[in-house]
Amino acid sequence: MSNYLTKMIEPGRVHRDIYLDPEIFEIEMDRIFGRAWIFVGHDSQTPHAGDFITTSIGRQPVVMSRHTDGEIHVLFNRCGHRGAIVCNEAKGNARKFQCLYHGWTYNTDGTLRGVPLPEGYPEDFEVGKAGMGSLPRVDSYRGFVFACLNPDVEDLESHLGPTKACIDNLCDRAPDGEIMLTGGVHRYRFDGNWKLQLENTLDSYHVPFAHESTVDRSGKQFSRREGDAEGAQVVSGEEEETHHTWKERGAWAFDHGHGFTGNTALDEKTRSSPVYDEYKAALEARLGAQQAEEVLTPFFHNALIYPNMSFMGLNMHIRVIKPVAVDRTEVNVYPVLLKGAPHAMNQSTIRLLNVTHAAASFVQTDDLEAFARCQSGVVGDSSKWVYFNRGLGEHTEAQNWGGREGKSTQELVLRNQYDGWLEYMGGAAT
Ligand code: FES
Ligand code: FE2
Repeated sequence: MSNYLTKMIEPGRVHRDIYLDPEIFEIEMDRIFGRAWIFVGHDSQTPHAGDFITTSIGRQPVVMSRHTDGEIHVLFNRCGHRGAIVCNEAKGNARKFQCLYHGWTYNTDGTLRGVPLPEGYPEDFEVGKAGMGSLPRVDSYRGFVFACLNPDVEDLESHLGPTKACIDNLCDRAPDGEIMLTGGVHRYRFDGNWKLQLENTLDSYHVPFAHESTVDRSGKQFSRREGDAEGAQVVSGEEEETHHTWKERGAWAFDHGHGFTGNTALDEKTRSSPVYDEYKAALEARLGAQQAEEVLTPFFHNALIYPNMSFMGLNMHIRVIKPVAVDRTEVNVYPVLLKGAPHAMNQSTIRLLNVTHAAASFVQTDDLEAFARCQSGVVGDSSKWVYFNRGLGEHTEAQNWGGREGKSTQELVLRNQYDGWLEYMGGAAT
């Protein structure tokens, strides 16, 4: 690795240039988003032949489509003629993809379907090969579709490692064993570097301060959950018992920058209402009472699959983080709906997310303000370093999951993201 990048990360601190330098941003797009498995979408977003969604992998615009044979494809969203974006909508259904510019058409597996005036091309021009092109690697785990620009990347399940258990838990909460990302999306951008949002997904230290209006005992945001009459019990700086819970919560750090934080005091077992009870009965019918109880006693709170996707097991959502520029980031937040759960319960998940993670919500807005302030303030010359050294060196080898274990307020899982950063950013300059 070039010296220059190695010097950006030190034990317990990172150089501010990783948030500010446009050249480092370009290298990240190339080496992190060009080398890692990137979450693209979920099966449920394209249930029928011809369904598609558009997104991006770093700088690369892509389409995820379901072909007529039922297979999911992840294609470069690029016309084989002059390179125009082919699918311009966020989602839709199409029998064929037609480029706006000169009318070349593609099948939903990306192969070229037709070219206007095909007889006019030179004989040695292989029109038939000019498809949209597929990403070198595409795979899925329990409906979560990932793609990778690097053909030599390890298989997806090895890459996910212990975070697979978090995906399993999320899916197992559904009476039908599957989640659905069909409840809409909150999509917004903030003026800050993408890593600010990434760090924050596993940052338990900030919660009582940045989100004081929500997690204080007088805050009642979580009472909007179906069957939850108690409201927030996450933490209160003044109450010793809950304060203790907050400080003692665990966190686990794994290879490639992945990690998760431990569960909060918001135990699923404390919830009860006619709708929630109906859901629980449906789950018990599939899993039996004991396994259902295990599933409803979640071991994780927030999980991060480095570098672009996190999910929260409490107010259930999947968050997709898209770098736009060194100081601009797009966030997409999808409510996680449980297949086979009562409609009213899934609606309550959407309702809760509307007040916690929408662009003008009570929780995420606090974080977005913090990200923008970090981006603006870090230029201050009192220091060139940003600190992640809380609990430095205090972790242990994790017993249950492999990897390293610490407390969720200790910043271990944030430091671990920068181990992942170094891992991907290494290698010869390209
Ligand atoms: Fe697509 Fe010409 S750029 S048909
Ligand atoms: Fe937050």
